[in-house]
Amino acid sequence: MDIGIDKIGFYTPKKYIDIVELAKARNVDPDKFTIGIGQSKQSVPMQYQDSVTMAAEAADQIISDDDNIGLVIVGTESSVDESKAVAAFLTDLLNLPKNIRAFEIKEACYGATAGLKMAEGYVALNPDKKALVIASDIARYGINTPGEVTQGAGSVAMMVSQNPRILKFDHEEVYMTKNVGDFWRPTFSKTAFARGKFSNQVYVEFFSELWKKYQTDFNQTVNNFDTMLFHIPYTKMGMKALKTLKDETDLDKFAELSEHYQASIKMSREVGNLYTGSLYLGLISYLINGDPKPGEKILMFSYGSGAVGELYSVTIQPEFRRILDSEKIKKVLNNREKISISEYENIFAKDLQNGDSINDSDVFDKFYLREIKESERLYKKIKL
Ligand code: COA
Repeated sequence: MDIGIDKIGFYTPKKYIDIVELAKARNVDPDKFTIGIGQSKQSVPMQYQDSVTMAAEAADQIISDDDNIGLVIVGTESSVDESKAVAAFLTDLLNLPKNIRAFEIKEACYGATAGLKMAEGYVALNPDKKALVIASDIARYGINTPGEVTQGAGSVAMMVSQNPRILKFDHEEVYMTKNVGDFWRPTFSKTAFARGKFSNQVYVEFFSELWKKYQTDFNQTVNNFDTMLFHIPYTKMGMKALKTLKDETDLDKFAELSEHYQASIKMSREVGNLYTGSLYLGLISYLINGDPKPGEKILMFSYGSGAVGELYSVTIQPEFRRILDSEKIKKVLNNREKISISEYENIFAKDLQNGDSINDSDVFDKFYLREIKESERLYKKIKL
């Protein structure tokens, strides 16, 4: 039985900052941010947004009444509660059926991949059911930190089913876990702690080790792939891993892989880091901006600091162009409004506190955090 991704939805907040303006405000050469790091814009979530509201926005785009959903998994590293899962908040916001398993997975930026792999197993055992897997995150390092330029926010929702119409999982996968201190966020902190350069090094080491194992286990070489997609917390990062393959192939093949990589980073350049959704935003970007062909095999590199890495392959399905709503996805990116660096700093400093509430009239999204009452987060859907 073929199992894979049948539908994909994407959401990012409607405000963004310009990376050149950020560089100027931080007294940094703009080329460092636009060329050295590879970003152009960064999405800025509003006070009423978090991993719950963004997950709802992305999932709302792909859920239909006849989906027989039995499992909902949210991969996130910016959860809102130490106990209750983001997926549980979604049940009434999205009007999900009662007889589902709903929970959250955390392992840095690997969470959504872990969710997809669990979903694959679930559908294999329950072929008539579907599994909704959502990656939803706000990436926050803090004002004037080295990681600030690699912030971002957004979510990707994926419906996993049998006979998928976008991508099929090939069941060729290798994975590894090591206890590494490259990035962490203690429960007391809203911002992440990162050993940025060490993190880059571990990421590339994981890719190289997994790639060796993948080749041995599945008898493959670089020449078997036209496209490799990477976890992209900032758009230069995947290139560091891709470059390690330069000596394993000829110039034409490497040029093709690089060209496809460029198509995969277009959207991340405009949004920033989605943490666990980053690899999947790269996938959407490649499917929309690249030269994808039905039957094409894609190698996916998922990495979550701490650290878990997985390399696996998928195959593009014949109907993908009809099913992927590229116009809607482009609209999400294009219907945004630029804000100034000082407006972003104000938004960043103001979190909704216990006792605070938000007026409907201040909201320009469908789902929002309405109130925090007795330390409980209460959400609302606006009927647009
Ligand atoms: N013009 C063009 N490029 C420039 C430049 C300029 N004026 N100035 C610097 N650069 C390049 C550097 O050569 C470097 O390129 P390289 O990575 O190919 O070597 C790049 O810009 C970044 O410069 P660097 O001095 O390393 O930046 P930094 O000390 O500010 O750190 C990060 C960059 C990415 C490490 C930092 O932003 C960070 O910690 N981010 C969060 C960590 C993260 O995302 N981890 C991933 C988790 S999976």
